[in-house]
Amino acid sequence: MVVATSSFVPYPGPAERLARKGLQALALLLAAGLLSAPFLQASPSARSFQLDYEHNCFRKDGAPFRYISGSIHYARVPRPAWRDRLLKMYLSGLSTVQVYVPWNYHETLPGVYDFTGNRDVEAFLDLTAELGLLVILRPGPYICAEWEMAGCRPAGVDAAASPCPASVPPAYLAAVDSWLHVLLPKIRPRLYQQGGNIISVQVENEYGSYYACDYGYLRHLLGSFRALLGSEVLLFTTDSAGAQELRCGTLQGLYATVDFGPGSNVTEAFGALRRVEPKGPLVNSEYYTGWLDYWGEAHASTSAAWVARGLEDMLQLGASINMYMFHGGTNFAYWSGADYKDQYKPVTTSYDYDAPLSEAGDPTEKLFAIRTVISKFQPLPVGPMPPATPKYAYGWVALRKYADLLDVLDVLCPSGPIQSQFPLTFEALKQAYGFMVYHTQLPWDVPDPATLGAPPHSICDRGYVMLQKEYQGTLERDGQTTLHVTGRGGDTLDILLENMGRISFGANTSDFKGLLGNLSLNSRPLSNWQIYPLAIDTAVQQGWPQAALPKSSSAGRVGPAFYTGTFETPGIAWDTFVKFPGWSKGLLWINGFNLGRYWSRRGPQQTLFVPGSVLHVGRPNNITVLELEEAPPSPLLLFLDQPLYNRTLGRSTMATEKVAQVPAQTFGDRWGPC
Ligand SMILES: *[C@@H]1O[C@H](CO)[C@@H](O)[C@H](O)[C@H]1NC(C)=O
Ligand SMILES: *[C@@H]1O[C@H](CO)[C@@H](O)[C@H](O)[C@H]1NC(C)=O
Ligand SMILES: *[C@@H]1O[C@H](CO)[C@@H](O)[C@H](O)[C@H]1NC(C)=O
Ligand SMILES: *[C@@H]1O[C@H](CO)[C@@H](O)[C@H](O)[C@H]1NC(C)=O
Ligand SMILES: *[C@@H]1O[C@H](CO)[C@@H](O)[C@H](O)[C@H]1NC(C)=O
Repeated sequence: MVVATSSFVPYPGPAERLARKGLQALALLLAAGLLSAPFLQASPSARSFQLDYEHNCFRKDGAPFRYISGSIHYARVPRPAWRDRLLKMYLSGLSTVQVYVPWNYHETLPGVYDFTGNRDVEAFLDLTAELGLLVILRPGPYICAEWEMAGCRPAGVDAAASPCPASVPPAYLAAVDSWLHVLLPKIRPRLYQQGGNIISVQVENEYGSYYACDYGYLRHLLGSFRALLGSEVLLFTTDSAGAQELRCGTLQGLYATVDFGPGSNVTEAFGALRRVEPKGPLVNSEYYTGWLDYWGEAHASTSAAWVARGLEDMLQLGASINMYMFHGGTNFAYWSGADYKDQYKPVTTSYDYDAPLSEAGDPTEKLFAIRTVISKFQPLPVGPMPPATPKYAYGWVALRKYADLLDVLDVLCPSGPIQSQFPLTFEALKQAYGFMVYHTQLPWDVPDPATLGAPPHSICDRGYVMLQKEYQGTLERDGQTTLHVTGRGGDTLDILLENMGRISFGANTSDFKGLLGNLSLNSRPLSNWQIYPLAIDTAVQQGWPQAALPKSSSAGRVGPAFYTGTFETPGIAWDTFVKFPGWSKGLLWINGFNLGRYWSRRGPQQTLFVPGSVLHVGRPNNITVLELEEAPPSPLLLFLDQPLYNRTLGRSTMATEKVAQVPAQTFGDRWGPC
């Protein structure tokens, strides 16, 4: 066995692992043989995880093996809940979890890395090992995942100038390599062959969906992964089952897998895989248990029976399956991504995904349907599934307006504005996420309504317009891009620009933010801007505005403004969901923790998930809301014990017609025990 690094825990037996972490009851069950150990510890020299081309399966320590896995993203789950979610995945019968590593979550500025707190990926991996789960790691560098810019760092903010993924601009490759040199050495001692629990590592992600189709890029990555992880680890790719995607996303030396959901024809999808991998295990790396939500569209929901039926069909073929997602979680702060299909489509704060474990980590009907299917193929661990955690309806909480955003620019942008004749992007000012204010003055009198507007695709993504500090309306990417205004020469004009999340999928991933073109008045470009990059989260994390002196705010004024309030928890800090009755759109912080965006006016998400771990017991919880458009006259929040959506669209109950039995011979003549 390779000598473990100081922070790395070598792989102990399951009972020992559980006992060490205080799960004595489970450990006793294991020791008494009442709970099936997920896998037995082999002698280190025998630890192997390989492809078996003859029997179309994996071989683990020499024995035929297939995995039943589920996706979980540590960045979308509060760290105090990691163990709970992983234990529930283990108790669902999964042997394995599949995990993305979002590059931009860790390398926050070029060469500046954060592996603390919720970003402590090694602590997360330690937990998976302690609970007896295997891991399929997906370190990108591009991860898609509906994550802000697919995990890549925005161009310009980074001298290495994305887009990401890329077709070999040398500066980009250098940035990728320096990241991999930081990340992969943390991974190597955790590989299965080294005594750890990581059985395979994905290189890139759905690269075949990116237009570049650059084998040189994939080959470069393959070289870097091999150099940093060694020759034994199983490396693979994942693509959708289209011919073009499989042609451009696969490479000799990387085992090809596909991804498809319960709506796909299993025979056709695995048939497509067989055309690039004629032998070896069939793998669906992303079997979709549900789907993501966009603002303004219905909440996605996929029938449990349908998902279970498709899973059973694939397991009958001996396939290895990862369910995407098994637990979706939450896009806290600014981490939600976006898609572009005819128009820009930002993803909601909730990443519930209609997954088997809900956003709050509770088992659903879908989880039990899946567990029943799994039990037909392999023994389930003994032990009850923990019930849903209690939620608490803390009820109504009154807020009061603290200040209009334009009146606190000195706090939010302490270094003052940047002067520029014409607008600059977020990227040019190294403001990766959040908000910037663009300030200028009307250059002439405008007695009659004039058109204030921007060229198409240049408001990225929403612009809240104030004239003489009075809110005029909102300009929106691919939506309303003009307003009518009147005023006098010298009147102040401010536009608060909001980044709603960078595109995470497809050909166009370099998605610049801010005012990308000139704002014009009756087609004449406005100039002489003062641009304020806002560090709102820095201020709120430091206790602002609660800790600051009260401001005399203009109570009746609408437009971007901060509101504050407090509430107390009775005894225990339970999870809760907060509704924004009569509010429009904005962000919520509790005790400095950014819980993400609400957008009651657009839906479908009507509540934000508040994990109990951000709440305090015995002292007031400080609420801060940034409302961007219009708060209700009496600003109240309502804390509920369940989430609300204002529209849900069910996907398929015609499950039985759609999924047909697939004869096992279709994909190779010998299935053996796989
Ligand atoms: C949710 O409700 C709001 C307010 O009634 C409405 O404007 C919006 O279109 C709804 N959203 C969806 C996705 O139905
Ligand atoms: C994609 O990028 C190109 C070049 O950057 C741009 O011209 C085009 O408008 C973009 N398309 C979309 C759909 O964003
Ligand atoms: C803004 O207008 C100026 C002057 O017409 C022009 O030089 C500049 O290129 C424009 N900027 C953009 C982003 O279109
Ligand atoms: C809440 O704000 C008060 C000031 O009003 C401050 O003293 C207290 O430390 C804050 N509490 C938390 C948990 O941030
Ligand atoms: C799936 O595809 C196969 C091959 O194209 C076809 O024979 C079969 O009828 C399809 N099954 C369903 C349920 O559509």
